Formats: sequence, structure tokens, C-alpha cells
Amino acid sequence: MRVLKTIAGLQAYLNDERVSREIGLVPTMGALHAGHQRLLERAIAENDRTVATIFVNPLQFSPQEDLEQYPRNLDRDCQFCQNLGVDVVFAPSPEEMGIFPGQNERSLAVILPPADMVTGLCGPFRPGHFAGVATIVTKLLNIVQPTRAYFGEKDAQQLAIIRRLIRDLNIPVEIRACSTVRDELGLALSSRNQYLSASQTEQATILYWSLEAARQAFRAGERDSKVLSAIAAEKLATVPEVQVQYLELVDPASLQPIERIETAGLLAIAAYLGSTRLIDNVILRDRQPIIAIDGPAGAGKSTVTRHVAEALDFFHLNTGAMYRAVTWLVLQAGIDTDDEPAIAELLQSVAIEFLPTDSPTGMQITINQQDVTKTILSPTVTDSVSAVSKLPAVRSALVRQQQAIGKKGGIVAEGRDIGTHVFPDAELKIYLTASERERARRRRNDLLAQGELNLSLEQIEKDIQRRDFLDSTRKIAPLRKAPDAIEIVTDNLNIEEATEAILNCYREAFSKRTK
Ligand code: PAF
Repeated sequence: MRVLKTIAGLQAYLNDERVSREIGLVPTMGALHAGHQRLLERAIAENDRTVATIFVNPLQFSPQEDLEQYPRNLDRDCQFCQNLGVDVVFAPSPEEMGIFPGQNERSLAVILPPADMVTGLCGPFRPGHFAGVATIVTKLLNIVQPTRAYFGEKDAQQLAIIRRLIRDLNIPVEIRACSTVRDELGLALSSRNQYLSASQTEQATILYWSLEAARQAFRAGERDSKVLSAIAAEKLATVPEVQVQYLELVDPASLQPIERIETAGLLAIAAYLGSTRLIDNVILRDRQPIIAIDGPAGAGKSTVTRHVAEALDFFHLNTGAMYRAVTWLVLQAGIDTDDEPAIAELLQSVAIEFLPTDSPTGMQITINQQDVTKTILSPTVTDSVSAVSKLPAVRSALVRQQQAIGKKGGIVAEGRDIGTHVFPDAELKIYLTASERERARRRRNDLLAQGELNLSLEQIEKDIQRRDFLDSTRKIAPLRKAPDAIEIVTDNLNIEEATEAILNCYREAFSKRTK
């Protein structure tokens, strides 16, 4: 692992790497704990190179805050990163980041978050904080130019502001959010927990339990913000040492207060225990689960996915059919399959819909209101689908549509990057795989059934190895097992058994969630 302290050093390292590799960025202020570990592990699993930055950013502390006292231990943090497999730690000084003593937003170019997003929650209590975060995050994104950047959901306001920044300023990076890590009593991990005494640590868990009380009420059907907030407030009041600064229920993306939760609400708390300020939150979302099934070709994904969807009465999101539909549209419009700019423009106004029918697949697919259920299976579409679906513009347009379809949940989707890319927050992720030999055997049986008798098992196995290599190393949507995916090896399972194995994982996950 490299530890670099200058922008020149980091860029010299990245210049070679960036050409052909995906870079994950995990910005931190050090004092690393299991919450950061989750971000780092995810970045390592999803990218070819991971850069962790350790920088206690003076711009996000106001004069009366704990900048001097903030825990710093670079050696320990570097060891932590090295043990996980981080490639580079970037630990610049404030001067290296262009911040000199006494400098603030009056003498620096800064990025201001939308005013609407800082009028509530921490905004009024930490003036200038989010401008400081937005500025430093933008600088880090410009320096590293990562493929993906990782942030924790505990800092929900920061996360929403960064997402908006990326959108409004067209910064080319994917933002990945990781769920809050808690200790065994429920306290959200934070570098500032170090300031708490043993008894305060125990008292602080009331933040979690009050959010949990609101979540239980939400699950039981309560949607009124005032009622949900009152439930949390009542619970918080049982520990008088906890001085509540705010308790607010807002829209998780716009951060505007909401009266009722229609699709999702962010219930957030800030409170003091002694002089330590803690924050915590929960997203209350009316969403059925999403099941993401990824894995290499030949593991039985498509059939198993269809069966799982049928058994749960979930929607089977057939992403393959969506790529075929777009290919059909491209051919129909007479656009060359390698003319990405023209295809990108064509896709700006594309609408793909799945409608239930009594056809054998149970599904009609339309693109711009034209029924293409049958035509997308034609040989012309089959010949061009791989050229079209590997274009970044096609992938990002369709991933956006898939995510829109997934908003309400209740879907099972299969592919190569469903759990890592399309639905990284899926409630259940499965990695369905089988040994190369077994996949080769299955492929040979399929070929034999089609009258193709000349290929040996060894030859097919070699092809499978080649395809696996290409699938897992390609730049766009590589095949990777999400770190939180459950691996199911189907060598000794038939379709029914593989389906049952997934349904068991589902039952197990959901009995845990509702306990
Ligand atoms: O969340 C943090 O630790 C900081 O706000 C961040 C994103 C590293 C910016 O300094």
C-alpha cells in the first residue's frame, strides 16, 4: 500500500492506473472504525483500485467546534487500510489542500450547497459546515477522478447534498451509500464516540431505540410525520441526559419537511450527551424488497430468477429484454450500433414498459408504446444486442430506467451487476454460480439438444473460462460478487432446489428484519 501526502504524488500514481482501471474513492477524516471498514470493503470489492483519503478538513469545523481535539492517528489508520487491502492512502496537509491558517470561505473559492438543503437538520446549527464538506469533496473528486465514491448513510444530510452536487454540477462519478454500522447495543459508530464515557455510551443508544420505535410504528402503517416524530421524541425523553438539538422528518433527497410519508422519509436526530454531539437517522421507506441475482453465464440464473419471482409474486425485471428492446429501437431508427452519440440522444426519450399478459412468459414488453415482445427475439436483434448493450450511454440510460422500475421494490432481477451496480441497496443479493466444469457440461447438453455435436467438454470449458475473464475484467458493468451477496453454488442443485435455496435466504432475511 502507498501512503502519499501530495497531490503530485497521488496524480503520478493515478495517471497510470486511471487509463484502464476503475477507481474507488473513500473520503474520510481518519479515526477509522467499522463504519469506514464497510465503505472501504465495498470500494475494494467494486473497483480495481481503492484510494482512501484521510484529511481532517478545517473548512467544515466552525471556530467553536472540535477541530483541534478531533482524533488523529495516521499510523493506526494506515495499518487499518493496509489490512483491508486499500491501494493508496492520500493524507495531505491542509496547506497541500490549499487551506492556510485563518482561511475560510471568504478567501477561498467554495462550493455552496443549495440553500434549501441547509435550512433544516444540522444546517442552522453548523453554519458553513456543508459548504466546507462540499468544497473538500469536490476538490477530492477533481484530484482523484474516481469511478465511484463512497459515503455513509449516517451523515444523511451530507449524502443528500453530495448527490445533488454531483447532479447539478455534472460531476462524472457514481455515488455509493453504505448503511450505518452500529455497535451491539445499537449505537451508530462515529469517530466522536471516543469522547463518550462508558455510561454516556449506554445512554446514547436511546437515539437508535427512538428511531426504532418510529420505524415500528411506520411498519404498522403510521404515515403522519407529526405522529412518527412524537413517538421518537417520547422515547428520547426517557433518557434526560440526552439533550435533543433537533428531531426532524424530511424528504431523503430534497431534505424538505414532509407532513406525510408517501414513498420515503428521513427521520433524523442530533443530540448532545455532555459536550459530545451525536447524529443518527433512519429512512422510513414503503418499499417491498428487491432481490438481486448475479453470477456467471451458465449458473441457471434466468430460469431460477423467473421461478423465484413467481413463488413470491414479485415482478421479474428482465434486464436482458430491455437491452434487446433498445437494440431493436436502434436498428429501427437506422442508427449504426457503434454510433454512441446518436444512440445516447435517441435514449433520452425512451420509455420501456412491462405489462402482464397471458403469454407463456407472462409479460409484454413495449418500447415507446410499441409492443416488441416477439420482435426482440429475432436473429437481427440477437446479432446486435451485445454491441449495443456494451455502450456506456446505453447502460447508464437503462440502469436509470431499471432503478425507476425498482423504486417500489417487489422485484427480482438478474444479471452481472444487479447487486453491485443497479440495486446496490437490494435487500437480498444472491451470487448464483457453478464450477466451470458443471457449466461446461450444461452448455454441452444445450448444444447437443440443438444438434451441435462437435464441441468437446474441454473446448467448452476453455470458452467459459475466457468468457468469465472477459466478463469480470471489462470496464463497463464487470461481473463481481457484491461483498454482501450470498453465494449459492448450483453444481448439485436442480432448478427447483436452487429456487428453494434462494427462497430460504429470503425467508431467513425477512424473519430477521421483522423481529
Ligand atoms: O464524512 C466525513 O468524514 C467528511 O465529512 C468527509 C466526507 C470526509 C469530508 O471531509
